[in-house]
Amino acid sequence: MIRAADLLAWYDRHRRRLPWRAPLGGTADPYRVWLSEIMLQQTTVGTVGPYYERFLARFPDVAALAAAPEEAVLLAWAGLGYYARARNLHACARAVVARGGFPRDVEGLRGLPGIGAYTAAAVAAIAFGVPVVPVDGNVERVAARVFAIVEPLPGAKAAIAAAAARLGADAAARARPSDFAQALFDLGAGVCTPSSPSCVLCPWMGGCSGRRGGIAGDLPRRAPKALRPLRYGAHFWLTDGRNVLLRRRPPRGLLGGMTELPGTPWRAERWSPAEAFAHAPMAAVWRAAGEVRHGFTHFQLHIAVFAAVVERIEGDGFLHPLDALDAVALPSLMRKCVAAVRQAFP
Ligand code: ADE
Repeated sequence: MIRAADLLAWYDRHRRRLPWRAPLGGTADPYRVWLSEIMLQQTTVGTVGPYYERFLARFPDVAALAAAPEEAVLLAWAGLGYYARARNLHACARAVVARGGFPRDVEGLRGLPGIGAYTAAAVAAIAFGVPVVPVDGNVERVAARVFAIVEPLPGAKAAIAAAAARLGADAAARARPSDFAQALFDLGAGVCTPSSPSCVLCPWMGGCSGRRGGIAGDLPRRAPKALRPLRYGAHFWLTDGRNVLLRRRPPRGLLGGMTELPGTPWRAERWSPAEAFAHAPMAAVWRAAGEVRHGFTHFQLHIAVFAAVVERIEGDGFLHPLDALDAVALPSLMRKCVAAVRQAFP
Protein backbone atom coordinates (compact mmCIF):
# COMPACT_ATOMS: atom_id res chain seq x y z
CA MET A 1 0.00 0.00 0.00
CA ILE A 2 1.43 3.36 -1.08
CA ARG A 3 0.16 6.11 1.19
CA ALA A 4 0.94 9.80 0.72
CA ALA A 5 0.75 10.20 4.51
CA ASP A 6 3.82 7.96 4.95
CA LEU A 7 5.86 10.09 2.56
CA LEU A 8 4.69 13.32 4.19
CA ALA A 9 5.58 12.05 7.66
CA TRP A 10 9.05 11.17 6.35
CA TYR A 11 9.33 14.62 4.74
CA ASP A 12 8.43 16.35 7.98
CA ARG A 13 11.46 14.70 9.60
CA HIS A 14 13.95 14.67 6.74
CA ARG A 15 13.16 17.57 4.44
CA ARG A 16 16.14 19.42 3.00
CA ARG A 17 16.61 23.04 4.01
CA LEU A 18 16.83 24.79 0.65
CA PRO A 19 17.06 28.54 0.10
CA TRP A 20 13.77 28.76 -1.84
CA ARG A 21 11.75 26.75 0.62
CA ALA A 22 9.30 28.29 3.05
CA PRO A 23 9.79 27.36 6.70
CA LEU A 24 7.61 24.44 7.83
CA GLY A 25 4.00 25.62 7.76
CA GLY A 26 4.87 28.93 6.01
CA THR A 27 3.86 29.94 2.49
CA ALA A 28 6.40 30.09 -0.28
CA ASP A 29 7.03 33.30 -2.23
CA PRO A 30 6.01 32.62 -5.88
CA TYR A 31 8.91 34.70 -7.23
CA ARG A 32 11.45 32.65 -5.28
CA VAL A 33 9.79 29.37 -6.23
CA TRP A 34 9.57 30.28 -9.91
CA LEU A 35 13.20 31.47 -9.99
CA SER A 36 14.43 28.27 -8.34
CA GLU A 37 12.49 26.10 -10.77
CA ILE A 38 13.91 27.89 -13.82
CA MET A 39 17.44 27.62 -12.40
CA LEU A 40 16.97 23.95 -11.50
CA GLN A 41 16.03 22.98 -15.05
CA GLN A 42 19.00 20.85 -16.16
CA THR A 43 21.17 21.98 -13.23
CA THR A 44 21.64 20.38 -9.84
CA VAL A 45 20.58 21.77 -6.46
CA GLY A 46 24.26 22.01 -5.45
CA THR A 47 25.24 24.12 -8.46
CA VAL A 48 22.23 26.39 -8.26
CA GLY A 49 22.63 27.37 -4.58
CA PRO A 50 25.24 30.16 -4.85
CA TYR A 51 23.82 31.49 -8.13
CA TYR A 52 20.39 31.63 -6.60
CA GLU A 53 21.49 33.65 -3.58
CA ARG A 54 23.46 36.09 -5.71
CA PHE A 55 20.64 36.48 -8.19
CA LEU A 56 18.12 37.15 -5.41
CA ALA A 57 20.39 39.71 -3.77
CA ARG A 58 20.68 41.49 -7.14
CA PHE A 59 16.97 41.11 -8.08
CA PRO A 60 15.02 40.73 -4.83
CA ASP A 61 11.56 40.63 -6.39
CA VAL A 62 9.83 40.26 -9.73
CA ALA A 63 9.51 44.03 -10.17
CA ALA A 64 13.27 44.52 -9.74
CA LEU A 65 13.94 41.80 -12.29
CA ALA A 66 11.44 43.22 -14.78
CA ALA A 67 12.99 46.68 -14.48
CA ALA A 68 16.58 45.51 -15.00
CA PRO A 69 18.35 45.78 -18.37
CA GLU A 70 18.71 42.46 -20.18
CA GLU A 71 22.51 42.61 -20.04
CA ALA A 72 22.41 42.69 -16.22
CA VAL A 73 20.16 39.63 -16.15
CA LEU A 74 22.41 37.72 -18.57
CA LEU A 75 25.43 38.65 -16.48
CA ALA A 76 23.87 37.33 -13.27
CA TRP A 77 22.95 34.17 -15.19
CA ALA A 78 26.34 33.59 -16.86
CA GLY A 79 27.67 30.13 -16.04
CA LEU A 80 24.26 28.52 -15.63
CA GLY A 81 24.08 27.97 -19.39
CA TYR A 82 21.06 27.90 -21.66
CA TYR A 83 20.81 31.63 -22.21
CA ALA A 84 17.42 31.40 -23.86
CA ARG A 85 16.25 30.60 -20.33
CA ALA A 86 17.69 33.84 -18.96
CA ARG A 87 16.03 35.83 -21.70
CA ASN A 88 12.72 34.04 -21.13
CA LEU A 89 13.11 34.64 -17.40
CA HIS A 90 13.36 38.35 -18.04
CA ALA A 91 10.42 38.32 -20.49
CA CYS A 92 8.40 36.33 -17.95
CA ALA A 93 9.14 38.82 -15.16
CA ARG A 94 7.89 41.63 -17.39
CA ALA A 95 4.74 39.71 -18.28
CA VAL A 96 4.06 39.00 -14.60
CA VAL A 97 4.50 42.64 -13.62
CA ALA A 98 2.29 43.73 -16.54
CA ARG A 99 -0.54 41.45 -15.42
CA GLY A 100 -0.17 42.43 -11.76
CA GLY A 101 1.30 39.21 -10.33
CA PHE A 102 1.80 35.52 -10.99
CA PRO A 103 -1.20 33.53 -12.25
CA ARG A 104 -2.23 31.10 -9.52
CA ASP A 105 -3.16 28.09 -11.64
CA VAL A 106 -1.42 25.69 -14.04
CA GLU A 107 -3.06 27.00 -17.23
CA GLY A 108 -2.28 30.63 -16.44
CA LEU A 109 1.35 29.86 -15.58
CA ARG A 110 1.75 27.75 -18.72
CA GLY A 111 1.04 30.80 -20.87
CA LEU A 112 4.11 32.70 -19.58
CA PRO A 113 7.46 32.82 -21.42
CA GLY A 114 9.77 29.94 -20.52
CA ILE A 115 7.20 28.05 -18.46
CA GLY A 116 6.46 24.54 -19.71
CA ALA A 117 4.24 21.81 -18.30
CA TYR A 118 6.66 20.82 -15.55
CA THR A 119 7.43 24.33 -14.32
CA ALA A 120 3.77 25.38 -14.39
CA ALA A 121 2.86 22.38 -12.24
CA ALA A 122 5.80 22.93 -9.88
CA VAL A 123 5.01 26.61 -9.25
CA ALA A 124 1.27 25.93 -8.96
CA ALA A 125 1.83 23.16 -6.42
CA ILE A 126 4.69 24.66 -4.41
CA ALA A 127 3.72 28.34 -4.35
CA PHE A 128 -0.09 28.16 -4.64
CA GLY A 129 -1.01 24.77 -3.20
CA VAL A 130 -2.70 23.51 -6.38
CA PRO A 131 -3.05 19.72 -6.08
CA VAL A 132 -0.93 18.63 -9.06
CA VAL A 133 2.23 16.54 -9.16
CA PRO A 134 5.08 18.12 -11.16
CA VAL A 135 6.91 15.36 -13.00
CA ASP A 136 10.66 15.90 -13.18
CA GLY A 137 13.36 13.23 -13.41
CA ASN A 138 13.17 12.48 -9.67
CA VAL A 139 9.43 12.03 -9.72
CA GLU A 140 9.60 9.89 -12.87
CA ARG A 141 12.08 7.60 -11.17
CA VAL A 142 10.03 7.25 -7.99
CA ALA A 143 6.78 6.61 -9.88
CA ALA A 144 8.35 4.10 -12.29
CA ARG A 145 9.77 2.16 -9.36
CA VAL A 146 6.76 2.26 -7.06
CA PHE A 147 4.54 0.87 -9.83
CA ALA A 148 7.28 -1.23 -11.50
CA ILE A 149 6.81 0.33 -14.92
CA VAL A 150 9.28 -1.56 -17.10
CA GLU A 151 8.50 0.05 -20.46
CA PRO A 152 11.51 2.23 -21.38
CA LEU A 153 11.55 6.02 -21.60
CA PRO A 154 10.79 8.05 -23.61
CA GLY A 155 7.91 5.75 -24.69
CA ALA A 156 6.81 5.29 -21.08
CA LYS A 157 6.53 9.03 -20.40
CA ALA A 158 2.74 9.18 -20.42
CA ALA A 159 2.35 6.01 -18.34
CA ILE A 160 4.83 7.31 -15.76
CA ALA A 161 3.12 10.72 -15.61
CA ALA A 162 -0.20 8.97 -15.01
CA ALA A 163 1.43 6.93 -12.23
CA ALA A 164 2.79 10.11 -10.65
CA ALA A 165 -0.67 11.67 -10.77
CA ARG A 166 -2.03 8.56 -9.03
CA LEU A 167 0.50 9.06 -6.22
CA GLY A 168 -0.80 12.59 -5.73
CA ALA A 169 -4.46 11.65 -5.87
CA ASP A 170 -4.95 10.53 -2.30
CA ALA A 171 -6.49 12.84 0.26
CA ALA A 172 -3.33 13.34 2.32
CA ALA A 173 -1.41 14.49 -0.78
CA ARG A 174 -4.22 16.79 -1.88
CA ALA A 175 -4.25 18.39 1.53
CA ARG A 176 -0.54 19.36 1.25
CA PRO A 177 0.31 19.68 -2.47
CA SER A 178 3.37 21.89 -1.92
CA ASP A 179 4.94 19.54 0.61
CA PHE A 180 3.95 16.46 -1.37
CA ALA A 181 5.70 17.67 -4.53
CA GLN A 182 8.85 18.60 -2.62
CA ALA A 183 8.74 15.37 -0.64
CA LEU A 184 8.87 13.48 -3.95
CA PHE A 185 11.85 15.60 -5.03
CA ASP A 186 13.67 14.90 -1.78
CA LEU A 187 12.87 11.20 -1.86
CA GLY A 188 14.20 10.99 -5.42
CA ALA A 189 17.31 13.03 -4.63
CA GLY A 190 18.28 11.36 -1.34
CA VAL A 191 16.73 7.89 -1.07
CA CYS A 192 15.29 6.72 -4.37
CA THR A 193 18.55 7.64 -6.13
CA PRO A 194 19.36 6.70 -9.73
CA SER A 195 21.78 3.89 -8.79
CA SER A 196 21.78 1.83 -5.57
CA PRO A 197 18.64 3.34 -4.02
CA SER A 198 18.53 3.24 -0.20
CA CYS A 199 15.32 1.23 -0.03
CA VAL A 200 15.66 0.42 3.66
CA LEU A 201 15.32 4.14 4.45
CA CYS A 202 12.29 4.61 2.20
CA PRO A 203 8.87 5.35 3.69
CA TRP A 204 7.33 3.50 0.72
CA MET A 205 9.53 0.42 0.89
CA GLY A 206 6.66 -1.86 1.94
CA GLY A 207 4.39 -1.01 -0.97
CA CYS A 208 6.98 -0.54 -3.72
CA SER A 209 6.47 -2.99 -6.61
CA GLY A 210 9.94 -2.32 -8.02
CA ARG A 211 11.51 -3.25 -4.70
CA ARG A 212 9.35 -6.34 -4.38
CA GLY A 213 10.41 -7.48 -7.86
CA GLY A 214 14.08 -6.74 -7.14
CA ILE A 215 14.26 -4.29 -10.06
CA ALA A 216 13.91 -0.89 -8.36
CA GLY A 217 17.51 0.12 -9.08
CA ASP A 218 17.11 -0.67 -12.80
CA LEU A 219 14.09 1.59 -13.29
CA PRO A 220 13.17 3.63 -15.18
CA ARG A 221 14.57 1.87 -18.23
CA ARG A 222 15.70 4.02 -21.12
CA ALA A 223 15.87 3.33 -24.82
CA PRO A 224 19.47 3.70 -26.06
CA LYS A 225 20.37 7.33 -26.74
CA ALA A 226 21.34 8.58 -30.17
CA LEU A 227 24.90 9.88 -30.13
CA ARG A 228 25.19 13.65 -30.10
CA PRO A 229 26.81 14.85 -33.31
CA LEU A 230 30.23 16.43 -33.04
CA ARG A 231 31.01 19.89 -34.36
CA TYR A 232 34.27 21.77 -34.65
CA GLY A 233 35.26 25.40 -34.42
CA ALA A 234 38.24 27.65 -33.71
CA HIS A 235 38.28 30.82 -31.58
CA PHE A 236 40.92 33.50 -31.28
CA TRP A 237 42.37 35.30 -28.27
CA LEU A 238 43.82 38.54 -29.60
CA THR A 239 45.46 40.88 -27.13
CA ASP A 240 47.76 43.91 -27.04
CA GLY A 241 48.64 43.25 -23.39
CA ARG A 242 45.91 45.56 -22.05
CA ASN A 243 42.77 44.60 -23.98
CA VAL A 244 41.29 41.57 -25.66
CA LEU A 245 39.09 41.56 -28.76
CA LEU A 246 35.55 40.34 -28.15
CA ARG A 247 32.38 40.32 -30.21
CA ARG A 248 28.69 39.78 -29.65
CA ARG A 249 26.82 36.79 -31.07
CA PRO A 250 23.65 37.36 -33.09
CA PRO A 251 20.65 37.97 -30.81
CA ARG A 252 18.77 34.77 -31.76
CA GLY A 253 19.99 31.21 -31.76
CA LEU A 254 22.42 29.33 -29.55
CA LEU A 255 24.06 31.63 -26.94
CA GLY A 256 22.14 34.44 -28.62
CA GLY A 257 23.37 37.91 -27.68
CA MET A 258 26.23 36.54 -25.60
CA THR A 259 29.81 37.79 -25.83
CA GLU A 260 32.48 35.58 -27.39
CA LEU A 261 36.01 35.47 -28.70
CA PRO A 262 36.02 35.92 -32.48
CA GLY A 263 36.03 32.60 -34.32
CA THR A 264 34.93 30.34 -37.12
CA PRO A 265 31.43 28.99 -37.62
CA TRP A 266 30.88 25.56 -35.99
CA ARG A 267 30.70 22.73 -38.51
CA ALA A 268 30.87 18.95 -38.86
CA GLU A 269 34.42 18.83 -40.24
CA ARG A 270 37.54 19.70 -38.32
CA TRP A 271 39.18 23.00 -39.39
CA SER A 272 42.73 22.88 -40.69
CA PRO A 273 44.79 25.74 -39.19
CA ALA A 274 44.95 27.44 -42.59
CA GLU A 275 41.15 27.30 -42.98
CA ALA A 276 40.66 28.53 -39.42
CA PHE A 277 43.07 31.47 -39.83
CA ALA A 278 40.94 32.76 -42.70
CA HIS A 279 38.42 33.58 -39.92
CA ALA A 280 40.97 35.15 -37.57
CA PRO A 281 40.34 38.83 -36.84
CA MET A 282 43.74 39.82 -38.26
CA ALA A 283 47.00 38.41 -39.56
CA ALA A 284 49.26 37.64 -36.60
CA VAL A 285 51.56 34.99 -35.19
CA TRP A 286 48.83 32.65 -33.93
CA ARG A 287 49.90 30.08 -31.37
CA ALA A 288 47.82 27.02 -30.48
CA ALA A 289 46.50 27.16 -26.89
CA GLY A 290 44.88 23.73 -26.91
CA GLU A 291 41.45 22.30 -27.47
CA VAL A 292 38.30 22.98 -25.45
CA ARG A 293 35.36 20.54 -25.33
CA HIS A 294 31.86 21.55 -24.52
CA GLY A 295 28.52 19.73 -24.56
CA PHE A 296 25.38 21.44 -25.75
CA THR A 297 22.00 19.75 -25.61
CA HIS A 298 22.03 18.69 -29.24
CA PHE A 299 25.70 18.47 -30.14
CA GLN A 300 29.20 18.32 -28.79
CA LEU A 301 31.67 20.98 -29.69
CA HIS A 302 35.46 20.82 -29.97
CA ILE A 303 37.09 24.23 -30.17
CA ALA A 304 40.69 24.83 -31.18
CA VAL A 305 41.91 27.94 -29.34
CA PHE A 306 44.58 30.21 -30.79
CA ALA A 307 46.26 33.20 -29.19
CA ALA A 308 48.30 36.12 -30.47
CA VAL A 309 49.84 39.23 -28.97
CA VAL A 310 50.02 42.26 -31.30
CA GLU A 311 50.98 45.94 -31.10
CA ARG A 312 47.60 47.14 -32.32
CA ILE A 313 44.43 45.08 -32.33
CA GLU A 314 42.40 45.09 -35.54
CA GLY A 315 39.25 43.21 -36.51
CA ASP A 316 35.50 43.27 -35.99
CA GLY A 317 34.24 43.46 -32.43
CA PHE A 318 35.12 45.57 -29.43
CA LEU A 319 38.08 45.89 -27.10
CA HIS A 320 37.64 44.88 -23.50
CA PRO A 321 40.20 45.44 -20.68
CA LEU A 322 41.94 42.21 -19.66
CA ASP A 323 41.63 43.04 -15.98
CA ALA A 324 37.82 43.37 -16.21
CA LEU A 325 36.97 40.07 -17.91
CA ASP A 326 34.92 38.97 -14.91
CA ALA A 327 32.44 41.75 -15.60
CA VAL A 328 31.52 40.30 -19.01
CA ALA A 329 28.72 37.78 -19.35
CA LEU A 330 30.90 35.17 -21.04
CA PRO A 331 29.20 31.81 -21.60
CA SER A 332 30.86 28.76 -20.00
CA LEU A 333 32.29 27.64 -23.33
CA MET A 334 34.13 30.96 -23.69
CA ARG A 335 35.33 30.84 -20.10
CA LYS A 336 36.87 27.47 -20.94
CA CYS A 337 38.60 29.04 -23.96
CA VAL A 338 39.99 31.85 -21.78
CA ALA A 339 41.16 29.28 -19.22
CA ALA A 340 42.91 27.33 -22.00
CA VAL A 341 44.81 30.46 -23.05
CA ARG A 342 45.76 31.31 -19.46
CA GLN A 343 47.01 27.78 -18.92
CA ALA A 344 48.98 27.63 -22.17
CA PHE A 345 50.49 31.12 -21.81
CA PRO A 346 50.55 31.99 -18.11
N1 ADE B 1 14.06 20.21 -8.06
C1 ADE B 1 13.19 21.00 -8.70
N2 ADE B 1 12.48 21.73 -7.82
C2 ADE B 1 12.93 21.41 -6.60
C3 ADE B 1 12.59 21.81 -5.30
N3 ADE B 1 11.65 22.73 -5.10
N4 ADE B 1 13.24 21.23 -4.29
C4 ADE B 1 14.18 20.31 -4.53
N5 ADE B 1 14.55 19.89 -5.70
C5 ADE B 1 13.93 20.43 -6.74
